[in-house]
Amino acid sequence: MNAETRTGLRLSARLAAARGAMKLTRAWKRPGRERAYRAWYDAISEFSELLFADFHCMNYGVAPVADPDAHEAFQLGLYDLLAGFEPLAGRRVLEVGAGRGGGAAHVGRSHGARAVEGLDLSGRAIEMSRARFEGPGLRFTIGAADRLPFADDSFDVLLNVESSHCYPDVEAFLAEARRVLRPDGALLLADFRHRDEAADLRDQAERAGFRVSHEQEITKQVIDALDADDARKRRLIDACPAVPSAVRGSIRHFAGCKGSPMYEDFRSGRRVYLAYRMAPAVA
Ligand SMILES: C[S@@+](CC[C@H](N)C(=O)[O-])C[C@H]1O[C@@H](n2cnc3c(N)ncnc32)[C@H](O)[C@@H]1O
Repeated sequence: MNAETRTGLRLSARLAAARGAMKLTRAWKRPGRERAYRAWYDAISEFSELLFADFHCMNYGVAPVADPDAHEAFQLGLYDLLAGFEPLAGRRVLEVGAGRGGGAAHVGRSHGARAVEGLDLSGRAIEMSRARFEGPGLRFTIGAADRLPFADDSFDVLLNVESSHCYPDVEAFLAEARRVLRPDGALLLADFRHRDEAADLRDQAERAGFRVSHEQEITKQVIDALDADDARKRRLIDACPAVPSAVRGSIRHFAGCKGSPMYEDFRSGRRVYLAYRMAPAVA
């Protein structure tokens, strides 16, 4: 057995354990659920180094986009969609759940944000974001969504992309988002939910002191992106000898490949993908 296969097997065992823990702790609050998600995203980050040379985004993306052949075009397109809800130029932006840093770097580079801070629970993802992107106006910090290590009123815009479904306490995150945002700021959030839980987010936001000023269902755009990106993802997953066949199904599910339970949930309407602009409510 060569070194790559051994690493693949070791990471697969970690992924399987983390996936089991995520299922087991789904109904729990911290700390069990947070630990399970951290383990999953640490292992995914390591795995992605084996699989993909240039993998900086971890969302399902939206279509259409101007240039579908550009690198991570659909995934960055989701950031562009949110940036259409609120100008980012010259603003101080925090991304909570910044993953591998591709989106945070994009909003600095392509939308002219003055300073961008990316925060994530996964130390491994933050290490990679720092190595690849950190520089003037762009910083990365390890932290949890419901305990933000920032002062009150310190950001103009808070971005949250496909991350809130992982949180043990979404309302605690929204209260923290409200605290660190300036009164004239905005929270831009995109994520999926089971259809029967979709209305909860609006109620949670209102209880945390936000007013929802824009809500858009983007499930169709997400399915179109999954369709358009399917062949590329399959090629990467299936061609990598370090991915044992037993874990390919899990990785295809995580990547939203056609036929995976995640993809079928979007197609059947069991899960919906939503995008919001929320503003601090005036007292
Ligand atoms: C699907 S990825 C999305 C990453 C990035 N927003 C993107 O679109 O590329 C979800 C991210 O949320 C992070 N996350 C999960 N639970 C978290 C928590 N409680 N606090 C902060 N980040 C969290 C994960 O580590 C992961 O990097």
